[in-house]
Amino acid sequence: MRRYESFNGHWIFAEGFDPTATDRPLTGETIRLPHTAVELPYNYFDETIYQKAFTYQKVLIWEDSFEGREVSLVFDAAMADSEVFLNGHRIIAHKDGYTPFEARLTPHLKRGENLVTVKIDGSENPEIPPFGGQIDYLCFAGIYRDVWLKVASPVSIANVKIETPDALAAKKSVTARIFLANPDGRPLAGTLSAKIRRKGGGDVATTTVNVDANEVFLTFDDLADIDLWDIDNPVLYALSLKLETDHGEDVLTHRFGFRTAEFTPDGFLLNGKPLKLRGLNRHQSWPHTGYAMGRRAQEKDADILKRELACNIVRTSHYPQSKWFIERCDEIGLLVFEEIPGWQHIGGEAWQKESIENVRRMIERDWNHPSIIIWGVRINESQDSHDFYAETNRLARELDTTRQTGGVRFITNSELLEDVYTMNDFILGQEEVPGNNRGRVVLRDRVETTGITRPIPYMITEYNGHMYPTKRFDQEQRQAEHVTRHLLILDAVAGDSNISGSTGWCMFDYNTHKDFGAGDRICYHGVLDMYRIPKFAAYAYASQGDPKDGAVLQPVTYWARGERNVGGVLPLIILTNCDYIEVKFGEWPAKRVYPDRENYPHLPHPPVVLDLRTVTPEEFGTWGRVWREGTFTGYVDGKPVKTLTLPADPVPTTLEVLPDDMDLRAGEKDAVRVVVRVLDQCGNLLPFFEEPISLTLEGPGRIIGPSDHTLKGGATGFWIEAGDDRGALTLTVESRRFATSTTTFTIN
Ligand code: GAL
Repeated sequence: MRRYESFNGHWIFAEGFDPTATDRPLTGETIRLPHTAVELPYNYFDETIYQKAFTYQKVLIWEDSFEGREVSLVFDAAMADSEVFLNGHRIIAHKDGYTPFEARLTPHLKRGENLVTVKIDGSENPEIPPFGGQIDYLCFAGIYRDVWLKVASPVSIANVKIETPDALAAKKSVTARIFLANPDGRPLAGTLSAKIRRKGGGDVATTTVNVDANEVFLTFDDLADIDLWDIDNPVLYALSLKLETDHGEDVLTHRFGFRTAEFTPDGFLLNGKPLKLRGLNRHQSWPHTGYAMGRRAQEKDADILKRELACNIVRTSHYPQSKWFIERCDEIGLLVFEEIPGWQHIGGEAWQKESIENVRRMIERDWNHPSIIIWGVRINESQDSHDFYAETNRLARELDTTRQTGGVRFITNSELLEDVYTMNDFILGQEEVPGNNRGRVVLRDRVETTGITRPIPYMITEYNGHMYPTKRFDQEQRQAEHVTRHLLILDAVAGDSNISGSTGWCMFDYNTHKDFGAGDRICYHGVLDMYRIPKFAAYAYASQGDPKDGAVLQPVTYWARGERNVGGVLPLIILTNCDYIEVKFGEWPAKRVYPDRENYPHLPHPPVVLDLRTVTPEEFGTWGRVWREGTFTGYVDGKPVKTLTLPADPVPTTLEVLPDDMDLRAGEKDAVRVVVRVLDQCGNLLPFFEEPISLTLEGPGRIIGPSDHTLKGGATGFWIEAGDDRGALTLTVESRRFATSTTTFTIN
């Protein structure tokens, strides 16, 4: 059958690349993939330090089972300009840093030791998208995704495209195009059997067809009792294929779902029903390791978007992201806008050719994912380029007739070659630009941005971001304004049935080039910080979720007399999905306050706002008077569901050390996040607690990044990475003001 196993361990890694030495063993550090060539500090670094060539090398020992079989290495991605050599022979080159490639080893394999050498180059080669101009994010360097050893029959299944043409009909069908790999062009005779299985359940249907060509077509009709895939109940099925030819057997299984997805001039429809898309843009980066994080961390980001931020869509800005991330989106019901690599700049002919190939690679990798609802086939925010984009659209439509195309632009009146006009509308905030006298405009009219008067599908793909960078520990008034800007746009989008939805800029802060961000190589544009710790704006999203999935009650305040200009905490936004809240300030009687539908008429869950419409300043005291405790209770269906007490005299009481998981897997560089927060006597974060903590880890693993942190805004985060051995990992967190905290993890 087929062997497909991790090839991540025991690589030798070294700086530089010598093209004359690809048949000789290197000396270097032994590493495991996924790997970043240079681990960077958290901020304030020189991003050119990884912009050069590096070499990875690994010995593959011949096994008798290779005899008569196809042996290859599948690289899920490497950044960038990769070249793979086997025993000194260059066997493949792949420029793109985001898409997979397969290095066929068979012709140059020998008995005994085989030397695999991989060159990658982080030097931002202007011949390769996205490079050539300025870019507001870092691309890092390294073999940063998994590599797999594949041993298959000389004729095998290369890929499959699964479609569900009439997903909404009572009796459904499935079609599958199966592409065979037959590198030696062998004559074919055999069969392909296919089985549709319900995930975790039995067979739904089976069929067998004869095989006599490199492409096979299958259909299943009259399928009954099929569940649709949707965001609340993301039911997945699997198509299992078994190829039997004179040249041996092969198997492949792909998951898929039954659903329809359509952007219309009247909004987005999932399975024929209107759904307002509400989401965020996501980069694939982490502190220190850059892009190089494995399965658990990828999955966690999807979980955070869906479960903590109540998003129903993510845009993979600005490139195809890890398969672990996309697979998780399939599993949890998070829709995906996926796009080709690029940022504003369009290069020359060769560059564009590569970009067109990226369209093919992205779609051929990902066409079976039910979560993906649209292909982004323009370079993010580039200028119009008729021939180039006519071709990216043509190719996308040729490869996949089931999904619409989008192309993200910020210029107005741009040529619409895509199916959906996808617009970064950065108008909110422009009122701060000198000379702009339009006042506060939340979103521009669709006809104004597109110049197109006929109805067209329309989506807002970015807003906020650089218009209002905000740190998690910025002054409370700035945070309130940050929150307000996110709410205003969510409300405007919710209120316009012609807008399919929006993805805000962005999920979390990210490391960037010197030309962007706050000068410290961080763009503070997230609703979460780089550790995925929420800013207040995160609750603008979280509070739009259904209270049955968790009540949200988050006052946008540090609750202090003198944190704001002039003092006090009014106006006070309370982000909540409760029906109403009761607020108590010290001894004053509790006051019931309802969501602010006046200012946010369209939001599923407008915030409660305490201002002069609802309270008097006296109730909250004035400057120089006693500051009091605040109590907030949220009610759903008349019952109290959440209470929060904000003390008038907060003191550091608890050092909370909170890992996302306690069990890690050995031999996978499995990494779990740990968040450390300093809490007051009522369990609230102390926003200006900035003392140092020191971390130690005993056992077979390591702390990614430094082992001493200063808390930033009362909190910090880090990831613990399991090593190759099983056992226990003990994390100790020491600080000056708290008892030492110890946490034990298990590595299985
Ligand atoms: C957009 C761009 C994003 C990010 C954002 C910051 O122009 O598409 O990548 O830079 O601005 O607001």
